[in-house]
Amino acid sequence: MLSKFRRIVVVVLLLSCAVLNAQNRAKTVDAGGHAWWQHAVFYEVYPRSFADSNNDGVGDMNGIASKLDYLKDLGVDAIWITPCFPSPQVDFGYDVSNYEDIDPMYGTLADFENLAREAKKRGIHIILDFVPNHTSDQHPWFVDSKSSRTSAHRDWYIWRDGKVPGQPPNNWTSTFGGSAWKFDPATNQYYYHYFYAQQPDLNWRNPAVEKTMFDITRWWYKRGVSGFRLDAVDILFEDPNLKDNPVTGGRNAYGDAYQEHKYNTKLPEVHQALRGLRKVADEYNAVLIGETWTKDIAELNLYYGKGNNELQLPMDFLFTTVNKLSPAEFRKQIAAINSASGWPTFVISNHDIARSYDRYGDGQHNDDIAKLMASLYLTLRGTPILYYGEELGMKTTVPTRREDVKDPIGRSGWPKEKGRDGERTPMQWDESVNAGFSKTTPWLPVPPSAKTHNVADESKDPNSILSFYKKLLKLRHTNKELLDGNYLPLNQSDQKVLSYLRVYQDQAVLVALNMSGTPQRVNFELKRNGFASARALAATGKSSSQGDFVTLDPYGVFIGQLER
Ligand code: NOJ
Repeated sequence: MLSKFRRIVVVVLLLSCAVLNAQNRAKTVDAGGHAWWQHAVFYEVYPRSFADSNNDGVGDMNGIASKLDYLKDLGVDAIWITPCFPSPQVDFGYDVSNYEDIDPMYGTLADFENLAREAKKRGIHIILDFVPNHTSDQHPWFVDSKSSRTSAHRDWYIWRDGKVPGQPPNNWTSTFGGSAWKFDPATNQYYYHYFYAQQPDLNWRNPAVEKTMFDITRWWYKRGVSGFRLDAVDILFEDPNLKDNPVTGGRNAYGDAYQEHKYNTKLPEVHQALRGLRKVADEYNAVLIGETWTKDIAELNLYYGKGNNELQLPMDFLFTTVNKLSPAEFRKQIAAINSASGWPTFVISNHDIARSYDRYGDGQHNDDIAKLMASLYLTLRGTPILYYGEELGMKTTVPTRREDVKDPIGRSGWPKEKGRDGERTPMQWDESVNAGFSKTTPWLPVPPSAKTHNVADESKDPNSILSFYKKLLKLRHTNKELLDGNYLPLNQSDQKVLSYLRVYQDQAVLVALNMSGTPQRVNFELKRNGFASARALAATGKSSSQGDFVTLDPYGVFIGQLER
């Protein structure tokens, strides 16, 4: 089993050392050469839905602060808070009207500072969500920009004449439906918006915009922020000639013809902007996480930048495209990300992607499958980003009536597109009314499963999903192989069990994940490879190891330290 991989281990080890060295040049690193964010476990908090301290139905800063002990105990090192800046909330915060404050619905700047202080005391970093591509149409910059063709901020946004009177400048469509151009009768021009019309795109070709955006990140770094998740980075620039996008056939949920976003996404200029943001981040030893929707690893590599001078953690969403428990598919994606030019980042769900509990669950073994998926993304080489509630087995609660939908795309795209409310429901703290999230009816409904899947009950149950997450996260923080070891796939033709080693120096941890609904017994030929046994570090149900073999329950997990 191991012999045939030995040479690969050496090559992989050398290659990853080279990558790490490049990444860490002149950075604060630990004795093993790792930057803080490489060993950190990140946790995404959707502030509207995490904890409501003032009982108005919407979560807030003080709510998050009150749950820091929970996060610490879970094993979280950094929290990414999705946009909490003043905003009309058309896109629930991704329409920012002031980048240097906190929305009153979430509290005050002082509340944020308190949160940052309390987090720091517990060794938890705060990552904010920076929205560089667009602002709210209520942002004073846009209000001024719109006021006249000669206003000071006119060129901060993208204004153009129609192709002919009454027709937008080109065929670009908004990803949220309809034309990406909105006509302004007062100045007789159109402005460009990749998302909602209330989210006009900034003009990154204007140096004043670039400088201002860089300065905003600095402003937050000075307030103790350890980095940013960068929203929609691949769309910062558009073709200046506004060429029409090629139409590819068929229609989307909003009735628009599908088009290849050739001239308004992924332009090479994006990388210059990212290098600029990175330069500022490096002044503060901060990390940049990217919302990077890439078609393959070659494209993802562009976001790490040459010599890793752009994003340290571009998210590998290719991993989330595997929507079934397929060892072959996961093997392919894991191998791909391990060949990338930077440190991998794993997510399995977020505020735009349905929860993993339903995506992978078969309706019968969902809790086991939740532990299986946790075992996968928390034992791979790279930085995991947990989405709040995944550690409980929260389910996606899709609205059943159009009139209940809060996310505007769910209303305009109904019934094909039901929006993202389903994955944004309140955190389930206990089995009381509103799952202990709020004393008032929350902004989104709590599903009945909160009665069984909540922090209070799962904390008491040693077999709960939460207890398993805690166990895995503890392991991740203490086991050198899981932290720094290379990934070595095993039994690559096995259709049911995904297995691999994490190898560090002469030590190895074996991970075996049964992705099928039938029990499995796998021969890992431990003795032939110089190991006497695999000592269980974490396992589900009756899954265990005896001699050369690992026996796995349906959807069972076995993680073991190989011993000589
Ligand atoms: C990506 C964010 O994750 C999503 O929630 C938002 O709607 C768009 N960017 C627009 O900012």
